[in-house]
Amino acid sequence: MKVILLGLLISAAVASAVPASSRGLFTLRTPEIVTNDGFPIESHKVQTSDGYVLEMFRIPYSPNLNNQDKPKKVAFLMHGLLSSSDCWILNGAENSMAYILSNAGYDVWMGNARGNTYSRENVKLTPLLPPFWDFSWNEIAMYDMPAMFDYVKYETGVENFHYVGHSQGTTVYFVLLSTLPQYNDYIKTSHLLAPVAYMSHMRSPLAAVAAPLLSKPNLLSDLIGSNEFMPSTALFGLLGQTACIDKSPFQEICANILFMIAGWDSQYLNYTALPLITATHPAGSSTSQLIHYLQEYNSGDFRRFDFGYFKNERTYHQKAPTDYTPENIDAETYFYYGDNDYFADVGDVLKISQQIQNLALYYQVPVPTWNHLDFLWAINVKEMINDPVKTAMEAYDAAH
Ligand SMILES: *[C@@H]1O[C@H](CO)[C@@H](O)[C@H](O)[C@H]1NC(C)=O
Repeated sequence: MKVILLGLLISAAVASAVPASSRGLFTLRTPEIVTNDGFPIESHKVQTSDGYVLEMFRIPYSPNLNNQDKPKKVAFLMHGLLSSSDCWILNGAENSMAYILSNAGYDVWMGNARGNTYSRENVKLTPLLPPFWDFSWNEIAMYDMPAMFDYVKYETGVENFHYVGHSQGTTVYFVLLSTLPQYNDYIKTSHLLAPVAYMSHMRSPLAAVAAPLLSKPNLLSDLIGSNEFMPSTALFGLLGQTACIDKSPFQEICANILFMIAGWDSQYLNYTALPLITATHPAGSSTSQLIHYLQEYNSGDFRRFDFGYFKNERTYHQKAPTDYTPENIDAETYFYYGDNDYFADVGDVLKISQQIQNLALYYQVPVPTWNHLDFLWAINVKEMINDPVKTAMEAYDAAH
């Protein structure tokens, strides 16, 4: 069994040489979708200190408001693993997070991490070769987030802003604010949807399949190395496509690695949005981002990437990777979590919440079986998540 798994995972790594641009016929992009929904859109490129060029999108104002001379209030949205700025705009003009905040008077910025659809440029490296993909979410937090945060601050002239992150968009928040604590001052309030730091309770099928093989540095993880994560059909088979097809009448869900990893059992998914979701996802990430999460599943720690003894010694001056320090986070932080989340399990969410100094809200979505992707695309996401987030931002702004 192990040998077969090995072969399949290696074929997954080899398949990763195919560039994402040749993956499908669809080229739906954030600007087209936003324009189509009747909102203005701007593209901004920012270069990180290690040479990646990231594309951010901005909805500067709402066409439904007359507030262009009012002082700016800014909201910054950060997507999760295998996702992009598109995750905030796929529920249409009435129900999507980005538009709801825009209609509430916010200048809305949407980040894109290195390696996804919009951020596949580097001044020295090409995404066709492995060195481009030599990063995990630690680097997204340490290089991409500061570059984007500083750019937004400079461009808008505001001192601080509201933050919304989903999944890996919460992990990078924890890593950034704990490692470079000066960034706490950039945050008015932050709204963490499906917060992910500790992972020992992860129930993603990915954990069962890949963690035993990849969560420790070994020959196989060296073979896979740093690459774009592009799963093979064999990997889909392993992740239980048959189980998925039994549970979902929608073939598109079972054919999409994002659902296979994050959960396909939603009771609330907005099926009208499904064609838009599958046209824009998965949005690209490195194999190391997944492996870093698997390492956490295995170790139970919230800590930096495990390169193996020798490189750990060079990088961290000790044999094991160093821990992150979430106790440094003192920005006003709001937690939103669900009871059926394969990635952000209730037990793991509780553990990180207890280390946050200024926890303003600890909110379990008050309906059963809420899963990881429901935070983005549930039919009731406006009522359960988007409106409460908006109301909390407005309350803060009214008081300050
Ligand atoms: C579902 O998605 C479609 C397509 O984006 C959108 O028009 C509709 O408003 C969404 N429904 C809900 C309840 O969010």
